[in-house]
Amino acid sequence: MATRILGIETSCDETAASVVEDGRLILSNPVASQIDLHAQYGGVFPEVASRQHILTIHPIIDNALQTAHMTLNDVDAIAVTRGPGLPGSLVIGFNVAKGLAIGSGLPLIGINHLEAHIYSAWLIESDQTPPPEPKFPLLALIASGGHTELVLMSDHLQYQRLGGTLDDAAGEAFDKVARMLGLPYPGGPAIQNAAENGDPAAFSFPRAWLEGTWDFSFSGLKTAVLREVRKLEEGNLPIPVDDIAASFQSAVVDILVKKTLAAAREYSAEEVLITGGVSSNEILRQTFEDSASLPIHIPPIFLCTDNAAMSAAAGHFRFQQGQRDPLDFDVLPNWPISEI
Ligand code: KG4
Ligand code: ZN
Repeated sequence: MATRILGIETSCDETAASVVEDGRLILSNPVASQIDLHAQYGGVFPEVASRQHILTIHPIIDNALQTAHMTLNDVDAIAVTRGPGLPGSLVIGFNVAKGLAIGSGLPLIGINHLEAHIYSAWLIESDQTPPPEPKFPLLALIASGGHTELVLMSDHLQYQRLGGTLDDAAGEAFDKVARMLGLPYPGGPAIQNAAENGDPAAFSFPRAWLEGTWDFSFSGLKTAVLREVRKLEEGNLPIPVDDIAASFQSAVVDILVKKTLAAAREYSAEEVLITGGVSSNEILRQTFEDSASLPIHIPPIFLCTDNAAMSAAAGHFRFQQGQRDPLDFDVLPNWPISEI
């Protein structure tokens, strides 16, 4: 019989709930984005995020169940993001999930948000002609506003963290550089648009290769952009926003693509998965497709950004494995995937 998991996700600034069948088929996946609310602050304002989650969480869960034509009686378990994420945001979804589990008697399963991003690769919208499941070993790059992680997945629920950013996340670098250039939040799409009219070779910004590691660093690149902008301002020269955006984007894409593909070769990965908000970037997608000699899986954008279907998918495999969490456990705002 099919297993249905209700997923709940509030790790950052999206309030989301979803029902997923057998870890793959999305029956519903509403997401309430707070981007417009945070745009005026130029980034996510944590307290505003928590308060908005409080307002939205119950309607979003009702919406997810109704769209799937279900009630809690029709689902087998509740999977909720336990971390990593903003503490004040995590606790909203987490406590609502606990309350629902207590009220309904359904099992509760805490999900690592990075693991959830990886399980976005399993999701499908229709079971007419489902594509094959991803193959192991799978090399995953998770690049979002909060994370830039390289993870090797050898089997379901088995992860080896190869490396990650030592400072800014890739998306954070896009957001900060956008702000320096007077572009709106979120910075990623704004930089991508500006870069379309710019020359990626106009400025040779530094790339931190961090040889011998699978780590990333974007703070030097960010500072190099800042220095360039200041120099132009001091000389009363116009800021070539499009050229700087294109040159910055090219540096980030270069590092992400080359290191990810080198890791895939080193660990003989069968497939590469790119996910997280930054994987919406058109140049990043195109460069991965053009440079890879192995299958590259990039989920559609609505599954790359935060959503609860991916949490429900991860929840399905944990449910099958027998995971049942106690009702007195807490959120883990700094929960590395290496410590699941
Ligand atoms: O995964 P996500 O929606 O939220 C979390 O951070 O968890 O990622 C948001 C990040 C932001 O930093 C945003 O600027 C970046 O993803 N982003 C992009 C693009 N679209 C969103 N970065 C580069 N190019 C894009 N097209
Ligand atoms: Zn995320």
